[in-house]
Amino acid sequence: MAIQSFVEKNLPRFHAELDALLRIPSISARREHQADTRAAAEWLHDHARAIGLEASIHETKGHPIVLAEWRKAGPDAPTVLIYGHYDVQPVEPLELWTTPPFEPSIRDGRIYARGSVDDKGQLFLHLKAIEAHLAATGSLPVNVVLLMEGEEEVGSENLMPFVEANTERLKCDAVVISDTTMVAPGVPTIGASLRGLAYFEIHVDGPGHDLHSGSYGGAVINPATALARIIASFHDENWHARIPGFYDDVDPADDLRDQTRRVGFDENRFLEETGSPETGGEAGFNTLERIWVRPTVEVNGLLSGYTGEGSKTVLPAHAMAKVSCRLVPHQDPEKIQTLFIDYVRSVAPAGVRVDVRVLHGGKPWRAKIGGPLYDAAGRALEKAFGKKPVLAGEGGSIPIVPEFERVLGAPVLLMGFGLPGENAHAPDEWMSVENFEKGILASAFLLDALRKKA
Ligand code: BES
Ligand code: MN
Ligand code: MN
Repeated sequence: MAIQSFVEKNLPRFHAELDALLRIPSISARREHQADTRAAAEWLHDHARAIGLEASIHETKGHPIVLAEWRKAGPDAPTVLIYGHYDVQPVEPLELWTTPPFEPSIRDGRIYARGSVDDKGQLFLHLKAIEAHLAATGSLPVNVVLLMEGEEEVGSENLMPFVEANTERLKCDAVVISDTTMVAPGVPTIGASLRGLAYFEIHVDGPGHDLHSGSYGGAVINPATALARIIASFHDENWHARIPGFYDDVDPADDLRDQTRRVGFDENRFLEETGSPETGGEAGFNTLERIWVRPTVEVNGLLSGYTGEGSKTVLPAHAMAKVSCRLVPHQDPEKIQTLFIDYVRSVAPAGVRVDVRVLHGGKPWRAKIGGPLYDAAGRALEKAFGKKPVLAGEGGSIPIVPEFERVLGAPVLLMGFGLPGENAHAPDEWMSVENFEKGILASAFLLDALRKKA
């Protein structure tokens, strides 16, 4: 009760603090934001220290890792590792934001800003839950290690070796992550799965420089057309991937398929959320199955030729596509990388040079539901939201999650507070004010519920 009233009394300050964090443009993908990304790490480090944690910054080849620890619950109490990321995605197209991405603004019960829900707001709510415990009771029910990274949105490449090199320090009984979405407002949700990822760039080079499309068109192969052919060969008429071996390790009778019919999925609301004229995808699967249990091949971006105002008759010298595959159990990113590269080479038209580069990858993940962590989460979420949580698959990826389980041997809980339509990675990203506030309580209750070692 003391914790709850501390939270209620201090909410305005919590919001002001979150705004300060959201104002830092920590775009990890962009060199020009390197200093800003570090500034977000330092902000979190200083803030963790101010609320009573021992904080430290750890340099990597890329953006720094921040640890914040409280270990005074003693060796007999469990240790909970809370992971989140302080980096955010690029903000383009800027003109589509109602208010600027790094000027947080609350409208209609939503905090609008880049990183509000992905993941600064969801990370920060754990800091506030810890602060509430410390302020109200002078201690925490469990030992806590907060692990905050700045490279999640670019593949977590430097976090993997950090976890391997610090297994003793990161040793824990449970990993808790808030970086996923709830199925609907008011319906607390435990994430049952994450998809893996294999990300590529395809470069197609034709002539040594751009050519007049009248003087040369028809006599040399056009790289844009060649790339279009490659891309068009990714799927058959049923939107089934045509890469040989792509589905070899996929379980067609996945047990998460049943759960897609139990979460009250509203196809019309989904359509509205996407703004797409129709849903569509691999034949034989419903919409949630396509997101939860099926792998994909997706074009993320295309670049070639003249795209400015009016017309320009030109035969472009280059074409480039960014392509990613979302993966499901038991697909292996490295194996898919090889299959994909071989396939693109096999369908590349003669007359151009085709180069496939691997950007990053991550393994798919399935929650091992049950045990003290999931029991505690069920109780904490019910207490905060007045409703038992539902289980839902997630279409996105968090590359470090399978590594936590493999290296630290601790179960991972996805307790996310995002919502459908939150515009993560898109203009007008938002986090629900209600979920930020209930998330703080849920996190505080979870620490209590984990108090005794099983
Ligand atoms: N928070 C997301 C992951 C996510 C998205 C989980 C949607 C559940 C539902 C995370 O920040 C993210 O965007 N991850 C990237 C990983 C990639 C860059 C390696 C993703 O999924 O694209
Ligand atoms: Mn995220
Ligand atoms: Mn993200």
